[in-house]
Amino acid sequence: MATIIDGKAAALKLREELSVTVSALKAEHDLVPGLAVVLVGEDPASQVYVRNKAKQTAEVGMQSFEHRLSADTAESDLLALIDTLNSDPQVHGILVQLPLPDHINEPKVINAVSHEKDVDGFHLTNVGRLNTDGKGVVPCTPLGCLMMLKAELGDLSGLNAVIVGRSNIVGKPMAALLLQANCTVTIAHSRTRDLQSLCQTADILVAAVGRPKMVPGSWVKSGATVIDVGINRIEQDGKTKLVGDVDYDSAESVAGAITPVPGGVGPMTIACLLSNTVQQAKRQHGIG
Ligand code: GUN
Repeated sequence: MATIIDGKAAALKLREELSVTVSALKAEHDLVPGLAVVLVGEDPASQVYVRNKAKQTAEVGMQSFEHRLSADTAESDLLALIDTLNSDPQVHGILVQLPLPDHINEPKVINAVSHEKDVDGFHLTNVGRLNTDGKGVVPCTPLGCLMMLKAELGDLSGLNAVIVGRSNIVGKPMAALLLQANCTVTIAHSRTRDLQSLCQTADILVAAVGRPKMVPGSWVKSGATVIDVGINRIEQDGKTKLVGDVDYDSAESVAGAITPVPGGVGPMTIACLLSNTVQQAKRQHGIG
């Protein structure tokens, strides 16, 4: 039976620490970190995320700014809003919720956000930093995964890490972080040969493909630490259920530790977003 990695508890602890930092910034520097979230369109999953982000931002004592634009917003109007936010001194972090509607050039928008206000770590400057000096802002989901791995395993040096999925949001930055932590890293994807055998070599197995229950317990090495990034909605017994990319029931009996879905990676992602916002606010003000 695996240890269940409690992402909800870890996120609560991180938010409590952030509340203390935010209070100190206010008292000592008259600084209230502000996060602006921009949502284009009515994607229901994105609306839920944005609502949660706004609530938790306020709970740790930070300012939250929400901008909801209609799905047919012109790219030039979105870029104009980003320009305004880039020069607003109350805004220290800007997040444009992805995915964007098809008529909008996503890379152009991502790189229009000042790299100093980027809290996703998606700006090319921050991507470059992550892969060189490690001093940029780090994408929230992989950062949360790394924190949970370190809390569970301590030093990760020399461990074999296999990441299933090569997205810019999770797979690639996760690989960079694990490499920095001295793991031997392999990124697997849809063209990988014999995925099962590869996964069986992993001391750390990260599943980030967006396919429900794709990784069965038979792919997991005994005692491995399994991080399940997937959040998939499926219909089961007439009900909608959230499941990960890992088949939890079969993996849980083989793994040494595993993140559940929900309650694993998800809560840590938002907590890391708040942490990135505080980090950017401090940098903009030359603190710490
Ligand atoms: N959509 C899904 N995940 C993310 C994320 O981490 N950041 C942004 N901006 N959009 C997302």
